[in-house]
Amino acid sequence: MKRVARFLLLLLASGSLLTWGAATVVERTTRHWFEEDILQRAGLVADGARGELLAHWTPGQGEALAASLTNIVRSERILGAEACAEGGQLLARTPLLPPQITCAAVAKRVAEDVAKNDDGDISRQIWGSVWGLPGGKVHVTAIPLVQTAQAAQPSGLLLLVHDLAFVERREAKTRSFLLVAFGVLILVASIITVVSARLSWRGFRKELLRFIQGESHRKEFLPIIRDVRELVERIAAERELEGQSGAWSPQRLKQTLVRHFPGEKVVVLANREPYIHHRAEDGSIQVQHPASGLVTAVEPVLRACSGVWVAHGTGSADRDSVDRQDHVRVPPGEESYSLRRVWLTPEEEKGYYYGLANEGLWPLCHLAHMRPLFRAQDWAAYQAVNLKFADAVCKEAESDDPVVLVQDYHFALAPRLIRERLPRATIMTFWHIPWPNAERLGICPWRAELVEGLLGSSIIGFQTQLYCNNFFDSVDRYLEARIDREQSAVVQHARATRVRPYPISIAWPMDWASQAPPVEECRRSVFAELGLPDNALLGVGVDRLDYTKGIEERFLAVERLLDRFPEFVGRFTFVQLAAPSRSLIEHYRQLEQTVGKTADRINARFGREGYKPIQLQRTHHEPPTVYRYYRAADLCYVSSLDDGMNLVAKEFVAGRDDEHGVLVLSQFTGASRELTEALVVNPYDLEEASSALASALNMPKDEQSDRIRAMRAFLAEFNVYRWAGAMLGDAARLRKKASVLGRMAEDSAPIRDRSA
Ligand code: F6P
Repeated sequence: MKRVARFLLLLLASGSLLTWGAATVVERTTRHWFEEDILQRAGLVADGARGELLAHWTPGQGEALAASLTNIVRSERILGAEACAEGGQLLARTPLLPPQITCAAVAKRVAEDVAKNDDGDISRQIWGSVWGLPGGKVHVTAIPLVQTAQAAQPSGLLLLVHDLAFVERREAKTRSFLLVAFGVLILVASIITVVSARLSWRGFRKELLRFIQGESHRKEFLPIIRDVRELVERIAAERELEGQSGAWSPQRLKQTLVRHFPGEKVVVLANREPYIHHRAEDGSIQVQHPASGLVTAVEPVLRACSGVWVAHGTGSADRDSVDRQDHVRVPPGEESYSLRRVWLTPEEEKGYYYGLANEGLWPLCHLAHMRPLFRAQDWAAYQAVNLKFADAVCKEAESDDPVVLVQDYHFALAPRLIRERLPRATIMTFWHIPWPNAERLGICPWRAELVEGLLGSSIIGFQTQLYCNNFFDSVDRYLEARIDREQSAVVQHARATRVRPYPISIAWPMDWASQAPPVEECRRSVFAELGLPDNALLGVGVDRLDYTKGIEERFLAVERLLDRFPEFVGRFTFVQLAAPSRSLIEHYRQLEQTVGKTADRINARFGREGYKPIQLQRTHHEPPTVYRYYRAADLCYVSSLDDGMNLVAKEFVAGRDDEHGVLVLSQFTGASRELTEALVVNPYDLEEASSALASALNMPKDEQSDRIRAMRAFLAEFNVYRWAGAMLGDAARLRKKASVLGRMAEDSAPIRDRSA
């Protein structure tokens, strides 16, 4: 109703404006015509009376002249006339002529007009002008009277004064007529518009409703419905992420899963298992938490959602810890999900894990100057193992449309293999490491197969938008597929795979941090372990021994620090917790040696009795130890040469609830885009890196707090539950969309049939 009133008001306002404009134009035009008319009539009257008037056109014949003038003014609408001799002298005038109109006054106005208009000589032209007098408007015409056509000068002016009251009367009549006419027109137009709009809106709504309820098949509604649905989905996604229900927590993630995928069990596929059972020397079984960013991030998600984690069983006591279906409930003591172990032969592991995954894909994806190796037998093993794991996932699925989270570069082929077996599955694949640009991917002989395999996913997630762009370029370069940049998707065989950035994170609150001893206690115990005096300054690095982590560059930066700032010699110690990794690969073994030698060289250069600037601990450390070191340190240096995210940086921040300690972070990590309050450096630039280390060691406590606090606030909000929730939410929307589009396709079948 309000809308109709607003519409009418608008119509009325624009109608009035239109009427006023039209009336003004009509008035001006008619007045102009009337004036032209008057001038013409005056000319005719003067022509008719010229002979008689000129006969008496001399002073002294005033009476005769006045009688002639009276004859002229008999014509209706001429109020009076006046005869003026040359020079403006009055010869005669009719009695009713308004006193303001005199020969002198008219001559003055004529002279002014001549000057203004620069019209030259108007002595032989008729002049006219409207005069406003107290009794109303009059039109004064001055007509030069010429004896003969050949006469050089007129004998004088004949003034004729017309009453304009009749013009005003006519104008008023015209205006009222126009107003009434436009008013009626607007009224009729409004009524017709409102009625027809209401009728067609009602019809449109009725038809749309019928369409939504599935009773109508009009395909013109399809785009509208699609747009509306997309809008609703986007709003829902934003609401969910923007925290209408507060911060992301395990509970909220669980609720999201239950809401979007009721009754579904999540199946995670990842090469690395979250818990490794080892047989200790004394024969007991010990549980190890592997040094893996993937495990750090995904494990809390599965704890929250429950389900099953399918992984390669690598521990010496792994087989002794599973049931007959190769399952073991984890985490030990807080069992909330199942770990399903898949066994590989040494040949399979060599080809798939050490070979293609870590000698081929790992150096291919990281810009760390390591040459990728591609061997046909590795590729064969990679294919076979992907198939083996895909089968295991499908066996774990409890329905034909399970939710599967495929992790990382070990399983590029698994998404398609799972899709072939379970076409309705929701498969979310997350690629934890960088995705190279298309040229670099071109090195790989099986680039198209890898991309094809990944496109079996419903969603492929990368750490950054840059990696998504690289992926689109790769599809463009090596595959027959349509890229829908607007939807950020790749469409192949009529199925879309969304490609989006989902920067990964850690759990928040972080249990390892909250369970760690107070900072002072951590500092005391770590300093004691390292043999440091109380006033020592400590830097920490925590990594797998991997060439992408820039451990050697890190040590060189420490060396440069001691070179440039001798005040730190004897005071500053850097401890590197380095977990041995992929040691069957020659390059990794070499790296272990190079890093060791570099540390020894620097220690020999700056060390002395009781002081060793670099302490390299080449062994696995369990999370409680790692967190003790984070909390004891004055700084943490993450110097990766290329890293999709790097969760050590985030863990260090999580570990510092005392709001002290400085993070020095490589610009080549995904984390540097998020943890902007860190001291961000180029790890290759030893001057910059050593300056940053010095700034960190000299940084006032207040500044340390400001920086750490800001980063902690960021991590509290952008935690791993949010990461998983975003992917699940997107997957749920895709699933809904697929089912709606499926229904629409079915619904539109009769249309096609009818039109056929
Ligand atoms: O960065 C990707 C990643 O999968 C990490 O999650 C993990 O730290 C590493 O690579 C894998 O290490 P590993 O070969 O020991 O499983």
